[in-house]
Amino acid sequence: ETLYKNGGVYVVIGGAGGIGEVWSEYVIRMYEAKVIWIGRREKDAKIQAKIDRLASVGPTPSYIVADATDQEELYRAYEEIKQQYGHIHGIVHSAIVLLDKSLANMDEERFRAGLRVKVDVSVNIAEVFEQEPLDFVLFFSSMNSFVKAAGQSNYVAGCIFKDAFASQLALEWPCAVKVMNWGYWGTVGTVASEEYQRRMQKRGVGSIEPPEAMEALEALLIGPMNQLAFAKMTTSSTWIHVNRAHSFVMM
Ligand SMILES: NC(=O)c1ccc[n+]([C@@H]2O[C@H](COP(=O)([O-])OP(=O)(O)OC[C@H]3O[C@@H](n4cnc5c(N)ncnc54)[C@H](OP(=O)(O)O)[C@@H]3O)[C@@H](O)[C@H]2O)c1
Repeated sequence: ETLYKNGGVYVVIGGAGGIGEVWSEYVIRMYEAKVIWIGRREKDAKIQAKIDRLASVGPTPSYIVADATDQEELYRAYEEIKQQYGHIHGIVHSAIVLLDKSLANMDEERFRAGLRVKVDVSVNIAEVFEQEPLDFVLFFSSMNSFVKAAGQSNYVAGCIFKDAFASQLALEWPCAVKVMNWGYWGTVGTVASEEYQRRMQKRGVGSIEPPEAMEALEALLIGPMNQLAFAKMTTSSTWIHVNRAHSFVMM
């Protein structure tokens, strides 16, 4: 059972990033999906190399330059996609702007930049794609909604908003609206550096790897729950720390 369609058309905001690329490869390989990435950067050699690599496993992904925090830009991207593909079957919010700093040293602009990509992009998805008969909207959020890591107040606030917004949208929209609160990805994405890996290892946090993550998303999309957290702990003390304030079901 799956919620993905063979030949489905999927829009991934932040698709050219690490986890967006992993997700795209999965649906292209498994379901011959037509994937459209939205990002702010002009298409550069790095993005083109990702597109070329994925073209060798299935339908070539498209790339549209748009800042999804700007509703007009996202709407223009939507119209372009509709013209080219006719239908859209699913949306993924995989965008992030990571600008860590302790709250005392964070100026408002920096705080807003980290927050906006979660708050404004979530709201814009709801406004721009409202009329689309979608199968699902998938929000990539973080374990940070629960852990609330120091130095990440902007990101944490954004993730908590994203979780709450998605849970309300799930009540209002007829399609599946799901949130995955990812733990740490050590091999792809915005924190896949050696330094981060060392820090996480010390804290007893393991790296999520693509196959297990894609399996978890399949379960989330067809399962009865609208929100799942997926994290890897290497010691039980890490688990107890997270679990102290929140109720989790361990699977
Ligand atoms: N990596 C992890 O360990 C981890 C853990 C927990 C949760 N997550 C979540 O997983 C998702 C993906 O993370 P990632 O690690 O793959 O990040 P990433 O590699 O940095 O990719 C993020 C992408 O978002 C795009 N983006 C940023 N602002 C945008 C905007 N306003 N409009 C359109 N695109 C925008 C960026 O492209 P441009 O700069 O070109 O716009 C970039 O390609 C995020 O939602 C993040 O919160 C990740």
